[in-house]
Amino acid sequence: PRVLVLSGPNLAALGSREPEIYGTLTLVELESQVVGEGERLGLDVTCRQTDDEAELVGWLHEAAAAGWDVVLNPAAFTHYSYAVGDACAHLVGVGSRLVEVHLSNPAARETFRHTSVVGRSATGTIAGFGAGSYLLALRALAD
Ligand code: DQA
Repeated sequence: PRVLVLSGPNLAALGSREPEIYGTLTLVELESQVVGEGERLGLDVTCRQTDDEAELVGWLHEAAAAGWDVVLNPAAFTHYSYAVGDACAHLVGVGSRLVEVHLSNPAARETFRHTSVVGRSATGTIAGFGAGSYLLALRALAD
């Protein structure tokens, strides 16, 4: 089974971006852990990152058309992008599963992070475990 693992805006800066919140692991290191966990679980994992809302929406439609499951860290889009939220609703509507993930726990942070416009469509959400959130999402999809 194919799984697309998508990371949204500013996540390419992991490692140096607010390390007290997001840790010191780079996105390259995180994605190599994700690919390794995928291999262990027998999942065919592809990782992508973008800062661009339109590109992210396009990838969600690509997964919907192909019938792939998605692990998505929508980053700041989580909190306000109805376009990403609607693309997620479409993805799940056509039968794919969607796991929303966050490195930090947005519920424990600023008020604007308490809203997710993606969560209403997600199959499930995992937040607060750093890179582990992504690995747990793959395990949830494999089970
Ligand atoms: C994040 C949490 C978001 O609030 C924030 O905008 C991010 C990263 C996380 O992984 O903890 O960019 O999605």
